[in-house]
Amino acid sequence: MDPYLIAKDTWILPHVFEAPPAGLVNANSMIIAGKEPVIIDTCPAAVRDAWLEQAWSIVDPQAVRWIFISHDDGDHVGNLEQVIEACPQAKIVTGWFQTGRLLLDHGKELPMPRCMWVNDRDSFEAGDRTLLAVRPPVFDSPTTRGLFDPTTGVYWGSDAFGLFVQEPVQDTADVPESMRWESFQRVGTMMAPWLQWVDPRKYNAHVDSIERLGVEAIATCHGPGFRGSLVNEALRRVRELPLLPPFADPDQAALEGVLAEITSGPAPALAPDPEAAVA
Ligand SMILES: [Fe+2]
Ligand SMILES: [Fe+2]
Repeated sequence: MDPYLIAKDTWILPHVFEAPPAGLVNANSMIIAGKEPVIIDTCPAAVRDAWLEQAWSIVDPQAVRWIFISHDDGDHVGNLEQVIEACPQAKIVTGWFQTGRLLLDHGKELPMPRCMWVNDRDSFEAGDRTLLAVRPPVFDSPTTRGLFDPTTGVYWGSDAFGLFVQEPVQDTADVPESMRWESFQRVGTMMAPWLQWVDPRKYNAHVDSIERLGVEAIATCHGPGFRGSLVNEALRRVRELPLLPPFADPDQAALEGVLAEITSGPAPALAPDPEAAVA
């Protein structure tokens, strides 16, 4: 998929991976190509060449001023070192715990003088806009902060607001309604197995605080974007997550189903037998 705009100067860099038996899952990142360009997450290393090509088609790496790391999972920091090296003017927007985890979990040592520690509800000035770090409703790493841009109303939800899809699409409106919210619920509860223990009242107060920001579009690493009336619907649906049964992880039988599907594919074509040709 090619990069696309979710709002003015705000690009989604989409990548889609097979996730059998659920369907397809996105691993996206985002670039705000404003006065001081911001790269938000860096996609998995598996798509490095394609992702770097996408990124540098949108911004000149020499002009990038900010690299925002929502959290330190591999699908968000897979190309971080390459970006840090290619963008010498850029500050790395991270945090204390994230810095340690990047070193211990990934062997990535951040250049400390280039770092800025921006925690939940801290903001930073990126030229023509003030960006606000906001922890999303659900997350799978304690270091997670989303990013809200008040100039466009776009909220980067990081792992939150994801959904499986059957084919690559840019907008959640293009996901058939029959699977849209069911898939949204599955990914939400999968991302946060701790939801079953949360107090819905406190959780809803947190979602209220996100809603009050004036979100006009939601971008997520793990699905297409939300615009228009689907933003309110997504915020309403995300409130239901603590009330749902926990995600049922696909079990051994599911793995065997996947393996059977792989091995039942068409047999590889046989190369011509040179001996037979001689005979
Ligand atoms: Fe994650
Ligand atoms: Fe993720």
